[in-house]
Amino acid sequence: MAMIEVRDLKFSYNDADETIKGISFDVEEGTYTTMIGHNGSGKSTVAKLLAGLLEKKSGEIRINGMDLTLENLNKIRSCMGIVFQNPDNQFIGSTVRDDIAFGLENHCVPQPEMDGIIEANAAKVGMTDKLDREPSHLSGGQKQRVAIAGVLAMKPKLLIFDEATSMLDPQGKDEIKRVIKEIHKESGLTILSITHDIDEVAGSDRVIALEKGRIVLTGTPHEVFEDPERLKKIRLDVPFAVRLREELHQLGVEVGTHLTMEGMAEELCQLHSNM
Ligand SMILES: Nc1ncnc2c1ncn2[C@@H]1O[C@H](COP(=O)(O)OP(=O)(O)OP(=O)(O)O)[C@@H](O)[C@H]1O
Ligand SMILES: [Mg+2]
Repeated sequence: MAMIEVRDLKFSYNDADETIKGISFDVEEGTYTTMIGHNGSGKSTVAKLLAGLLEKKSGEIRINGMDLTLENLNKIRSCMGIVFQNPDNQFIGSTVRDDIAFGLENHCVPQPEMDGIIEANAAKVGMTDKLDREPSHLSGGQKQRVAIAGVLAMKPKLLIFDEATSMLDPQGKDEIKRVIKEIHKESGLTILSITHDIDEVAGSDRVIALEKGRIVLTGTPHEVFEDPERLKKIRLDVPFAVRLREELHQLGVEVGTHLTMEGMAEELCQLHSNM
């Protein structure tokens, strides 16, 4: 089943030009899908449309089998969580515990159940020992982990990340990417991650590439990275291993397509030992 179904979706911020120019895509249940695209291609706009934060001009959005309409909005919101880019804009509570509790209180979860849910979700993101800290004293990566715990506490079926790691330092980035991967592996949640991180894209199940409000490529990371020229045309990066393959090809060394350096290194070692 598709967790997200989008058909011929159009949206404009103003009358002058259309930001989303009639896009259609599915995100299958349980997959880790990444959405890529140059700055301004419309990725965040799509995320906001999916979350019902912006109103579409035309087309269809179905989430978890429900049409995204005003009537269904609350039901849809209760099965999805969204984490944005800026860790500082996602805090409401004065402690980490309050913060994770916020969504639960809004959903009228009875007080006696709350502590258990908060602790279980803090544990999933490795923040158990920080529950009584003030969020402002945390690092960017820790803040994003708390934001993730907060949305996980709502037991969503779908998690959307809009560049959740882009404002973090390298350590914070790695932390959050690992947490997201673990959550996906353990819970089987559907994940849609908007990202510029090419390694995250390489490790995802499917990729959707946007350019100027249109979908220009979809497929597995292998399919999408197969044609580096095409990616360069839409101003997107390719993984280091794919670039290296091109360079090796120029030197007359033929290796298979690898998305990670580990895979590439393995083949090169084998090649070397066969020489
Ligand atoms: N609130 C707004 N009002 C008017 N135009 C907007 C608004 N938000 C975004 N836009 C425009 O819509 C287009 C798509 O923006 P969007 O933020 O969706 O891109 P993006 O792919 O998320 O980019 P980035 O990678 O920089 O986050 C851009 O041209 C942007 O300038
Ligand atoms: Mg954006």
